[in-house]
This record gives sequence, C-alpha cells and structure tokens, in this order.
Amino acid sequence: MNLLVEFNNVFFSYQSASGKPVEALREITLQIGKGEFLSIIGRNGSGKSTLARHFNGLLTPTSGEVLVAGLSTSTGDRKQLLEIRKRVGMVFQNPDNQLVSSIVEEDVAFGPENLGIPPPEIRKRVNHALAALNMFKYRREPICHLSEGQKQLVAIAGALAMKPDCIVLDEPTAQLDPCSRKQVLESLKKLNRDEGIAIVFITHLMSEAVNFDRVVVMEQGEVKVDGLPEDIFSRVELLEKAGLDIPVAARLAVELRQRGFPVAPGILRVEELVNSLCQLK
Ligand SMILES: Nc1ncnc2c1ncn2[C@@H]1O[C@H](COP(=O)(O)OP(=O)(O)OP(=O)(O)O)[C@@H](O)[C@H]1O
Ligand SMILES: [Mg+2]
Repeated sequence: MNLLVEFNNVFFSYQSASGKPVEALREITLQIGKGEFLSIIGRNGSGKSTLARHFNGLLTPTSGEVLVAGLSTSTGDRKQLLEIRKRVGMVFQNPDNQLVSSIVEEDVAFGPENLGIPPPEIRKRVNHALAALNMFKYRREPICHLSEGQKQLVAIAGALAMKPDCIVLDEPTAQLDPCSRKQVLESLKKLNRDEGIAIVFITHLMSEAVNFDRVVVMEQGEVKVDGLPEDIFSRVELLEKAGLDIPVAARLAVELRQRGFPVAPGILRVEELVNSLCQLK
C-alpha cells in the first residue's frame, strides 16, 4: 500500500466541563493508502467525528501519533499543519456551517485564495472543481438559491480546489434527500476514479457504506473490524453488537445462505437479493 495517512496506537480524551476526561478514541491503528475509497461506519457516539478530526490535525492524539504523508499532526508547527491541511480536505454534515461566501464560485475559490495561489491558477482550479461536481452551471448563483444537496457539492468542490490527496467527509449526506445522497456518492466515486483522490466517507448507514471498497466499523472509540464490505456485511451478529441496523435484504440473504441457498455474498438491497434468487435453479 502506498501510505497516505497512518494512525499509530491513537488514544484521545476530551476534557469535560467537570474536568473529567472522556475517552473517545482507544488504540486506533489504521493505515489509509493513496487513492482508497473507504467508509467508516458506527453508531452515535462511537467516535467517528473525533476520528475524522484527527485526519488533518483539527484534533491531535492524547497519546499515539497520526502521520499524513509521513508528517506528524502533533508537532504544533504551523507550516507542517498547513501542508497536512493541503493534503487532507474535510467536509462536514451541514453545508451551511462550512460555506463562507455568498456566491458559488467565490466560495470554491476561498481555500486556494488563502494559500496565496495566483489568480489564473485559482480560476482554473475553481472551474475544474465545479465541473467535476456537475456544478459549473451554477458558478455565479447565490448559494442561498441552491438545494442542500447542491450546497454539499459546492462544499466538496471547495475541498477539491485545494488539490488534496484525500477528502474526509463526516456524514455529508445526513441532511440530504435520497436523490441528493445518490448524487453526492456518485460524485465522490468519480473523484476517486478519475482523479485518484482518496475518499474517507463517514456514515451510520450501511446502505451507503456498502458502496465503498473498504469499510471500517467503529464501536465505543475502537476499530472493531476493517475489511471488504461483502465480508463485513455478512457478519450480522457483529454489526448488531455495534448497534448498526441491518437491512432486511442483507439479513434475509445471510439466513438463506446459512440454510444452504447459494445466494451471492454481500447482498444489501432488495433488488440484489431478487437478482441473486432469480439466478438460482
Ligand atoms: N466536545 C466534547 N466534549 C466532551 N465529550 C465529547 C465531545 N465531543 C464528543 N464527545 C464524546 O466523545 C464520544 C465520541 O463522540 P463523536 O462525536 O466522535 O461520535 P460520533 O460517532 O461522531 O457520533 P455521531 O454519530 O453522533 O456523530 C462520545 O461519547 C461523545 O459524547
Ligand atoms: Mg459525528
């Protein structure tokens, strides 16, 4: 694996108001390679957002170490942190909290402008990022005219305009309707495939996680499993223990397999189960 981000035995505790530490991450050891298409899944409070914020030094480990392209996030060196943030972009759940300008293209230009990039290069990056997310035709629109899904695509374009190696998205589809969710997922797949950008997609929905090449399951601040979606999603017990909802089709597929019906592995959706059943003699 061509390493991009490395978590080495990371522990993290928040200081609560009472001064008592709240342990949110325990013993996280994780390696993310260049160009990966990865989902992190876990129930409420399992530590997903805390983990996400460690990818670019928004939070730093209480003990252990996070390395981005070999650079530690913990040195406190501003130049190094800037280099890390150029490499790893971050997109959050609520687009309204992360969009800073009133016009689409101005917002996408904001990050590169702060890096002091020359205007012609900024123009190129902004146009490219908006085109890559199918948002070019909205470039002069006020952001307040856009749907929530379109706003989220603008936020992703903003991350893309920084030319990152990796984009971490913390439940970016949680506030979107199913159609916008699909659009965001497809756009991310395209960025991964066409531009080789590693995608780390955080969700609590299995139906979303199944679209990724690798899935990491978190439970109570720890990584419980890390593997291929088709392997993980057939482990019903483990997923139930981690507090994740198992889609009916996935559960049925596992039970059918247990009873000797050779349905395909990794089934999550009803239509996949129907297809697989129709192929049985
Ligand atoms: N600022 C904070 N101060 C104290 N404790 C916190 C803080 N933020 C999170 N926590 C605690 O850390 C643990 C992990 O929280 P985190 O937000 O990382 O989980 P999550 O998986 O992102 O949850 P969600 O699905 O609700 O977004 C939880 O127990 C939470 O209560
Ligand atoms: Mg969260």
